[in-house]
Amino acid sequence: MIKIVFDQEAKVRALPVWEGEAPEELEKEFWEYLETNEFFVGKKGEVYSDLGFYGKKIILIGFGKKEEADLESIRIGFFNGAKALDKAKEGEAQMDVSFFESFGEEGFKAAVEGLIQSNYAYNKYQSKEKKKEKKEVLFSFFNAPKEKEAFLDEVQSYMEGVFFARDLVNEPAMVMTPTKFSLEAKNTLSKVGVSVEILNRAEIVDLGMKAFLSVAMGSDEEPRFVIMRYMPLGEDVKPKVLVGKGLTYDSGGYSIKPTSGMLSMHCDMSGAASVAGTMYALAKNKVQQNVIGVSALCENMISGKSYKPGDIIKSMSGKTIEIDNTDAEGRVTLADSLYFSATKLNPEYIIDMATLTGACIAALGFEYTGAVTNDTNLYMEFEKAAKKTGEKVWLLPADEEFREAVKGKRGGDVVNSTGFGAGTVTAGMFLENFVEGKRWLHLDIAGTAFLPKEKGYLPKDATGVCVRSLYRMICSA
Ligand code: BES
Ligand code: MN
Ligand code: ZN
Repeated sequence: MIKIVFDQEAKVRALPVWEGEAPEELEKEFWEYLETNEFFVGKKGEVYSDLGFYGKKIILIGFGKKEEADLESIRIGFFNGAKALDKAKEGEAQMDVSFFESFGEEGFKAAVEGLIQSNYAYNKYQSKEKKKEKKEVLFSFFNAPKEKEAFLDEVQSYMEGVFFARDLVNEPAMVMTPTKFSLEAKNTLSKVGVSVEILNRAEIVDLGMKAFLSVAMGSDEEPRFVIMRYMPLGEDVKPKVLVGKGLTYDSGGYSIKPTSGMLSMHCDMSGAASVAGTMYALAKNKVQQNVIGVSALCENMISGKSYKPGDIIKSMSGKTIEIDNTDAEGRVTLADSLYFSATKLNPEYIIDMATLTGACIAALGFEYTGAVTNDTNLYMEFEKAAKKTGEKVWLLPADEEFREAVKGKRGGDVVNSTGFGAGTVTAGMFLENFVEGKRWLHLDIAGTAFLPKEKGYLPKDATGVCVRSLYRMICSA
C-alpha cells in the first residue's frame, strides 16, 4: 500500500528521468555505466532501483522522451515506481516533483493517480497464507503544488469510485446478484450523498418494462431497477443521465454461449458498475452537477420461463422487438432503461455504457472503447476528457444503412440481432430507437471493462473503465 505524504525526508531518493537525460543528482560515471550497459535509459515506464549495492539508495523512474511525454507517461512511471518500491520492501521514498512543472497541477494529479493505481488488489477469496502481507510504502512529494492536499483528496476520492466499480465486477455472479448489486450501490452511494431507489419486480411491471422483464424471466434471481440520484443543483436543472448494462450473468439464454464464452460473463454488469463508480466519484468530490445513474439488473438464464429465439416482445416504449438471438439480451434491457431515462428523467443528455458486443473486441481489441452517437458534439466532449485520462475511445459510423439493418423483419418494429458485420454499430442503432431523439452517446466497453491480462496500470479482470473519463467530463462541464 502506498501512502502519500509531503515534504518528509525518506531513505530512498526517487529520481525522475527523461529518456537519455542524466539527472543532475546522479554521478556522471554512474549514469554512463547505466546507459552503456543498457540497464536504464529512462524509457516511459522503465524503472531502475539500486538500494545499496552501489551505496546510493536510489530508484530511477523513466518518463520517456521529454517532447513526447504526456499525463499517461507520468501515470505509468509512478505506477511502476510504486511496484518497484513494494518489491524492494524499502518502505519509503521521496521525490522532488518540480520536474513536472510544465504539466501543472495535472502532472501532479497524474503522479498521485499512478501511485494509487498500484494499491488495487482483488484477493478476498485467497486464503490468508496466500495473501502476501502488503507492507506500507510511504511516498513523499517535495515541491508539490500549493493545493496539494486538495488534489490528493480529489484523486483519492475518484479512484475510490474506480475501485468500487472494479470490486462490483470482480465478484462472481453467485454473489453479485441483482439484489446484492442494488444493496451494495445503496450502501456505498448513500454514504456520499447519492439517493438510491431500488425498484422490485412489481414496480418494474408497473412501469411497463416488458423488454427488461423478458430477459429477466428465465432466472430465479429477482430483477432490480436501480435509480441513483445526485442532484446538488436542485430539481430545476436537467440532469446528465448515465445508463449501465446490468447483466449480473449472461449465459446467452437459449442461444447459449460456449463454455469459454460464459466463463467471464459475471462481467456483464460492468456498465452498471462504472455508472455506480462514477456516481461515487462525483458525489464524494461534491461536484456541482446534476447526475442520475440508472441500471436494469438481471440474469440471462435458461429455464422453462425464458424468452426464446423467435419471440416478439413488447417494450416500455410500445415498440415491439423481434428476438432473433437471446444472447443479444443487453440491448433488450437497455431499450427500457434508455426509454425510461429519456421520458421520465428529463435528461440534458444520456450516456450509456455496456459490455454489449463481442464484435467490439474483434474491431478494437482490449484497447479501445467503441462509441456510437446521435450527437457528435457530445462524443467530442467525452473524447476530450478521455484523452486526458488515457482511456482510449473510437467513434464508429452511425450510417443510414445500419439503421435499416435493425428494422423488424417478422412483423415487429425492430430486431435484436442482425446478420454478420458491423455488430457494434448495429447494436448501437438498435439502442437509438429508444432514446426519443435525446442527445445520446453509447459506449461499448466489451473489450475495455474486463481484461484477460494486466495492461500498464490496469489490472487483469475488472478495470472500472470510463469512471475517470466521465468524472472528468462532468467536472469540466
Ligand atoms: N455480453 C455479451 C457481449 C460480450 C462478449 C461482452 C464478450 C464481453 C465479452 C453480449 O450480451 C452478447 O452476447 N452479444 C452477442 C450479440 C450477438 C448475439 C448479436 C455477441 O457479441 O456475440
Ligand atoms: Mn449476451
Ligand atoms: Zn451480455
